[in-house]
Amino acid sequence: MQRPLCVAVLVLLLVFLLGANWIRSGPDASTGDITGDNRPVLRQTLAWIEHYTVLLLGVLVGSLEQPPTHGSGGPRTRGTDGEPRHGSPLAANLSICYPSLSDGDRPVYCCPPRPDGAQTVVDFEYPANTDSFPLRIRRPAHLVDDVYIAKYERAVAIMKSLPSDHPHNFFRQANNHCLYCTGSYNQVNSTALFKIHRSWLFFPWHRAFLYFHERILGRLIGDNAFALSYWNWDAPEGMVMPGLYTTGALNHTERDESHLPPQISDLNYECCVPVQEPAEEQVATNLAFMYHQMVSGAKKPELFLGCKLRSGTAGACDGPGTVESAPHNTVHTWVGSERNPEREDMGAFYSAARDPLFFAHHANIDRLWQVWKELMGLQDQPDFDDPDWLETSFTFYDENLQLVRIKVRDCLDPTKLGYTYEETALRWLDARPKPAVPPEVARGILMKRNDGDTSRLTRTHVESVYATLEAFDPAGRALDATITAKVRRPDRSLLQQTLGEGRADGSEEEEVLVVYGIQVEGDKYAKFDVFVNLVANEETAGPRSREFAGTFVNVPRGARRTEAKQEGDAGAGAPPKVTLKLGISELLQDLEAGEDDSVWVSLVPRGGSGARITVDGIRIEYMR
Ligand SMILES: *[C@@H]1O[C@H](CO)[C@@H](O)[C@H](O)[C@H]1NC(C)=O
Ligand SMILES: *[C@@H]1O[C@H](CO)[C@@H](O)[C@H](O)[C@H]1NC(C)=O
Ligand SMILES: *[C@@H]1O[C@H](CO)[C@@H](O)[C@H](O)[C@H]1NC(C)=O
Repeated sequence: MQRPLCVAVLVLLLVFLLGANWIRSGPDASTGDITGDNRPVLRQTLAWIEHYTVLLLGVLVGSLEQPPTHGSGGPRTRGTDGEPRHGSPLAANLSICYPSLSDGDRPVYCCPPRPDGAQTVVDFEYPANTDSFPLRIRRPAHLVDDVYIAKYERAVAIMKSLPSDHPHNFFRQANNHCLYCTGSYNQVNSTALFKIHRSWLFFPWHRAFLYFHERILGRLIGDNAFALSYWNWDAPEGMVMPGLYTTGALNHTERDESHLPPQISDLNYECCVPVQEPAEEQVATNLAFMYHQMVSGAKKPELFLGCKLRSGTAGACDGPGTVESAPHNTVHTWVGSERNPEREDMGAFYSAARDPLFFAHHANIDRLWQVWKELMGLQDQPDFDDPDWLETSFTFYDENLQLVRIKVRDCLDPTKLGYTYEETALRWLDARPKPAVPPEVARGILMKRNDGDTSRLTRTHVESVYATLEAFDPAGRALDATITAKVRRPDRSLLQQTLGEGRADGSEEEEVLVVYGIQVEGDKYAKFDVFVNLVANEETAGPRSREFAGTFVNVPRGARRTEAKQEGDAGAGAPPKVTLKLGISELLQDLEAGEDDSVWVSLVPRGGSGARITVDGIRIEYMR
């Protein structure tokens, strides 16, 4: 809708609302004048109209809030899903590689010795699977044998012995990750940075990286069947660091000493607290957390893969998918050394791939992408049918030292890429959490809150509707203590009518809790958990309670280039505001809250990081 028109309608509606409210609360019915017997009906009708007007207002305010629609990547068009598109696929401009900064603002330089922009780039072709090029089978790292370990160690040793300017050199391989996470390259046709974390590029870029790395390792030892192995941290048997990476040549010094075997990894790690649950408790927490990140919190591609990053600064977005946030980020941090300023190596993007364990960690992430697609029944189709995603391309040196351009559409099927995963049991599928407090008991307590028992809640009693009608303060609210807010659920049928959008495909909509305007002072490490209808102790509540809706983890994104700070770059001023989206349909069903008009949402800061976090508000949306 046109902005002026929108504002005019808004003002009219507001005037109407005030009037209606005045009539409803006007002369008391007991005085018996004007309205007589009709009064209850009138009141009823007005109340009804008012209710829908408020919702319509919400929608209008929402449409006003949309970012300006000018693009830097050519004319914007709209896709079949009605979302704006830039129409030019993302790629890195390889002609200039810039020095960049680490997450902690220290200069890093990951550029190749000679600019890749001067090399010939060929388009990717799938490898042939034949007897001499069999399918590579990636096995769980805790199950591999000595013969495999010897091969892998030899391949890495050769990689490390290559000259430092050789594209197959181990540290140049590691720098691939640094290049695309610290902003060494611009996007083509734009001054925006090309980065592959915190968006829908995360899974495909890492798949392509591992694909080429694995084939190079195989080539170096003359083994066409060589495959990486995966750190199966989602299974109880695989939760400790695999022996392959801790006992022999692939042992690495830059790791947290207190997390070496036999320590069970903490998939929802709260840096940097030493607390550890007893082993069996930690296993149960991990499984429940996996269930949440893979199943109940990830019912839509955008929730699992991350936000839709498009070309140009206007297409920027910042919203990792469930698994990228955690366990991906959390396990990186958990492994990295507490003795280093940025928990290098694994704990910082620029240095992470220097630890061989990186590749096993990411092989598991890659495997979980495939597992998720199969759970969703999406294995035979692209996760997003969107050319802005499918046509985005990355470049890597292949095993023949050829620079190759691979598109996201080439990265969707591991079998076509010549590898597969040996399956292990998905124990977390059976770890659907139960409510910490039986829903009928919780309901009683929550009703009392509704009835005005706000003594405990004065600071936090905030309502929000579909759009930002009542957000927190204009300046947002610090999370120095838990915030609990009552959040109204939008009226689905009304929204559908108002927005006039057919649901012809019949696909289920997911109810999504949106915590918006999240800002972390200094872009430091920060974490908070989100709960729905929580009445149990928030300090001890966690992923094993059904009330747990998800977690927000800020990993510093650093990436400020030393030269020419760019518009839209994290370094160009205050850290950007981030939106957290959490799928809650299944959770609401399990909490028996599916019919309620509103839910109570608690934001619980963790690890003493709350004072750095501010939040603008909370709302509920539906996602197709
Ligand atoms: C960059 O812009 C040029 C000229 O407008 C266009 O031909 C080219 O396709 C664009 N490249 C990408 C990847 O968008
Ligand atoms: C790549 O960057 C160079 C240097 O900034 C610029 O001259 C060139 O136009 C860019 N190419 C594209 C396709 O964006
Ligand atoms: C692996 O490296 C760590 C850190 O340097 C060290 O403490 C440990 O003893 C090493 N393990 C083996 C088996 O070499």
